[in-house]
Order: sequence, then C-alpha cells, then structure tokens
Amino acid sequence: MNDRRQDYPRPNARLHLNVFQPFGPIYDWSRTPRLRDYYEPAAYLALVQEAERGLFSAVFLGESLRLREHLGALNDIAVTGRPDALALFAHLAAGTSRIGLVATLNTTYTDPVDLARRIATVDLLSRGRAGWNVVTTDNGWTGENFRRGGFLDRHNRYRYAEEHVAAVQAIWDGFGADAIAADRDAASWLRPDALTLVDRAGEHLSARVLPQVPPSPQGQAVYFQAGDSDEGRDFAARRAEGIFTHRIEFDDAVAFTADIRRRARAYGRPGDDILVIPGASIVLGATDAEAQEKARHLRERLLTDRRIRQIVEEVWQEDLGHVDLDGPLPEHAPAADRQSRTHGIVHTGHEPSAKIREWRAIAEARGYSIRQLVDHLTRARAFVGTPGAVADELVHFVRSDAFDGLNVTPDAFPDGLGDVVDLLVPELQERGAYPREYPGTTLRENLGLPETVGHRVPALAELEAEAVPV
Ligand SMILES: Cc1cc2nc3c(=O)[nH]c(=O)nc-3n(C[C@H](O)[C@H](O)[C@H](O)COP(=O)(O)O)c2cc1C
Repeated sequence: MNDRRQDYPRPNARLHLNVFQPFGPIYDWSRTPRLRDYYEPAAYLALVQEAERGLFSAVFLGESLRLREHLGALNDIAVTGRPDALALFAHLAAGTSRIGLVATLNTTYTDPVDLARRIATVDLLSRGRAGWNVVTTDNGWTGENFRRGGFLDRHNRYRYAEEHVAAVQAIWDGFGADAIAADRDAASWLRPDALTLVDRAGEHLSARVLPQVPPSPQGQAVYFQAGDSDEGRDFAARRAEGIFTHRIEFDDAVAFTADIRRRARAYGRPGDDILVIPGASIVLGATDAEAQEKARHLRERLLTDRRIRQIVEEVWQEDLGHVDLDGPLPEHAPAADRQSRTHGIVHTGHEPSAKIREWRAIAEARGYSIRQLVDHLTRARAFVGTPGAVADELVHFVRSDAFDGLNVTPDAFPDGLGDVVDLLVPELQERGAYPREYPGTTLRENLGLPETVGHRVPALAELEAEAVPV
C-alpha cells in the first residue's frame, strides 16, 4: 500500500459516510428479535440519529415499487416492500438537524411536476437537507404496477429521464429566491413576476406549471444517480452531483471513478465535482481475527442454503433445486439471455451470460464450489478488520480517487452502526480524512457542493452538440 500522502492523486481527500438502509432484513430474518422494527418510525429515527452522531453526510433509501418475486412466486427471503422514502424523511427531518436525507425515486413511473413538489417539500421541512437519487428502474415487471406498463427500453428510459429531470430542474429554478415578501409593507405576499412559468413539450412528456414551493436554504435538493450502463453513466456525467454504485474492489473502483470523471469533463464539468459513493458494509473487531470471525458469522446468517440457491437461480432463471451447492456451477447455459425473473435484487441490469462468464472465471481460478463462490462474492462487499486497519484501507481508497465515500449498510437494525460511529470514525479523524464536526447545516454544505445547481444544467441537445471526446 502507498503510505506517502504526497504520492496520492488526492492527498487531502476526505471520506463521506452515508447510511444505506435497505428496508428489510439483510440477514436471516428469522433470527431478528423485533420484526416490526422494519415498519417502526422510532427505529428509523434511532438509526439516523446514531448516524448523525457519527457525522454521516446522509441517510440513503432505495425504492422498490413492487414486492419482490422469485421465479414467479413472492420472494419470501427478500420479505419487505419499501415504504415511501419522502414520507419517512418528513418524519426523520423533525428528529435530526444535520444529516442529509436522500431518497431514491425513479423517473420512469413518476411525474416530474408531482415529484418536484414533494422533494422540494422535504427539502424545506429539513431546512436544506434533501437529496434525490435518480434511478430509471430497468424492469418492465415494475411497470406492470402502473398504467403505462413496462414501456421503456434502456435508451428511451434515459431519454425520458433527461426530460423528467430537466422539468424538475426548471420547476425548482422557476421559484425566485426573492419571490416571497421580505417585510409586511410589501404590496403582495408573493411577487408573481418572481415565478417563471415552466412550459415544456418534449418527445416523452409535456408540462405547463407554475412552481409552487420556494427554494430551501441549500437552494435545491442534491442530485444523485444510480445506474451502471453506458447510458446511465453518461446521464450521471451530465446531471448528477453524486453517483451511487456497487464498485468497491480497488482497481474496478479506480477505473469506474476515472470513467465517470472523464465523461463529466466531456460535458464541460471539472470532473471532480461528482461524488462517487459505492455501497458496502463494514465489520470491525478488536483484532483482525475477531473481525473476520464476525464477518463470517454475518455471512453465515445471510447465506442460508435457500438464499445461495436463489442467488444462482436468479442468474440461470430456472429452478435449480436439484443442484448440489457444494459442487460446481451448473454447466448448461441459461435458456434465455434476458433480465432475471427474480425481480429487484442483485442482478438487475446484467445479461445473465456476462454474469455467468464472470462467475465461472472466479470459480475456476480458485476451485470454488457454488457455496464458496457466493461466499466470496458476498465477502467482496465488505471492509473487514480492526478500526485502524479499515481506516487505513479507506483512506488509501479515497486518496487514490477510488471513491469519495461509502453508503454503509448496517449489519443490524436499528443498532448496527455503533461500531462504525464509535470506533472507525475517530480513526478516520485522526488520519485527517473525516470531519470533526459538520461543516454546515445543509446537505450541500456537508458534501462540499455549491449552494445550488440552478441553471447549471442545459438541455440534452445542447450538451450533446457541445460534447467533446476526452
Ligand atoms: C447501486 C445501485 C442502486 C440502485 N438502487 C435502485 C433502487 O433503489 N430502486 C430502483 O428502482 N432501481 C435501483 N437501481 C437500478 C437502476 O434504476 C437501473 O434500473 C439499473 O441500474 C439499470 O440501469 P442501467 O440500464 O443504467 O444499467 C440501482 C442501481 C444501482 C447501480
């Protein structure tokens, strides 16, 4: 590992920590003492207050609009659906004062006028702590819930997302900061000429609306993006201020972040103005052996035989009940190279054949059985060790520009963050890689982002015309 700070591309970079709460048991739920906690407001508040004690930048929530299924039946391993993040955030905003509140909300099945108003409301209620993680949601299966159905292929999903986000942006831009009277002698409470009528007619959507909600103390909510395809990365490079990914293996993470920065520069941005934040878990122990043992125990709870089988079935898209988990991967190819019939987890967006090639390469190189392969893949999603060793590793990643922060999934709910807050955060602070207090009160201030993105984002056609290969 490179220990000389000055040799790093970003010697003074600091890490952001967010908490990613997946709205459901992330380990074998049958051993969870309080199942109802997953719908208990006080439990969410306890988790988020703990994160705030650890100076976390944000709490991040995902979105899934349909209960998960596996091979045509309800997926009882993935148990829960996801309550509405913005409604939950309205509750959490009242019990916190610094931590950001980032909701994953899709563009494919929502309406920009409605969404702009709802996100801006949470931004106001939290006094400038809201963020929007823009996803396009890649499965037509979710679309069956909606009158539009599963109507968009990837290309059009992102064209639609462009129009959607641009409309939201225009609505947020359209409410002038000085629209509301500053004193009681003013002629009217609201200055009509400080509102801009948003009148858009695009390829996919049209809207004619006067903005309804004034800007928050941070101006506008922070834009994140999650989606890994070429289209998704370009979309992030044009629009996002943060990107949620799953890439934490060092070389892969460095390459991904470099690719995102290169794409952002091609659209005329500095490139380092986009925060790359992968999801991961963190397991700590007083010694390395203790941490490894704890991580092994957590994996064992998560990876029941049923779950392992399901992970493989998700890719093969067929019942593999007869397959020996202590033997090799099935030799046959999946019947169809299309999106998984296990909806909403792990393999969305990947062609099964590509995933299988990747898995076979690992299993063959290391002589792994199915069980060992799945254990290996799960292990790769965690930073494990003593607080000092994990802090060293994270500092190495962040100074090497592998990422800007982590969306940490707690290993229990609601009290799974204690070790990170009490043991890891002080180690990061000692290394000068983590703040000792919140830099400000808004999410933008705490992420080091400019106050507002208003007007920064031109229309897609304009951007495409100006884009230069970098
Ligand atoms: C790290 C990560 C988190 C995601 N979280 C969600 C989510 O919470 N809800 C959702 O509908 N889609 C989520 N997505 C999926 C995206 O919406 C998108 O459908 C998927 O990545 C495929 O997009 P692509 O075509 O750009 O690869 C996530 C994707 C990534 C990479």
